[in-house]
Amino acid sequence: MPAGGYFALGGTSGAGKTTPLRILGLLETPAAGEYRFNGESRSTLSDRQLSELRDRAFGFVFQQFHLLPQVTAWENVARPLVYAGVPHATRKARSLELLAKLGLANRSHHRALQLSGGEQQRVAIARALINDPEVILADEPTGNVPQELWGQVLDMLETGWR
Ligand SMILES: Nc1ncnc2c1ncn2[C@@H]1O[C@H](COP(=O)(O)OP(=O)(O)OP(=O)(O)O)[C@@H](O)[C@H]1O
Ligand SMILES: [Mg+2]
Repeated sequence: MPAGGYFALGGTSGAGKTTPLRILGLLETPAAGEYRFNGESRSTLSDRQLSELRDRAFGFVFQQFHLLPQVTAWENVARPLVYAGVPHATRKARSLELLAKLGLANRSHHRALQLSGGEQQRVAIARALINDPEVILADEPTGNVPQELWGQVLDMLETGWR
């Protein structure tokens, strides 16, 4: 798949959408066949190399969001920047800016568990975008987002948020 490309996978419930996304994102091992990312075979990478590559190259929007429930919205968004070694003040400023673009300026300091499903999904989208990853893997990313924001969310997933 060429850089800048956009690829959508459709199918009924249980058809197999989440599973291939998890394989592409190096979260699951394929039962058969070989997966190469940028020419490098998955099977040659150690667990540590896999997790470094995952943090560096991929942004995930999980179907079940997987936010840290007791942590504020902005700190959930900022998590990939912690792994990338970005200083606290920059992490906070960037996260608040992105949350504002997603209509969540007034929810940034709420803990994730206090947010509605649609708000949590937008936090999960922001977390996937914050680090400008090479690849964004998004599992039904607008399922809970209000329809008036669909265009904006899909634009951001395609071209980045800045
Ligand atoms: N680790 C696993 N081992 C065996 N079977 C699995 C595993 N993970 C998923 N499956 C099965 O593979 C099929 C596809 O699952 P998957 O989660 O990819 O579906 P999906 O297309 O994302 O569905 P939905 O739209 O409901 O989210 C399902 O029948 C599921 O039970
Ligand atoms: Mg699924």
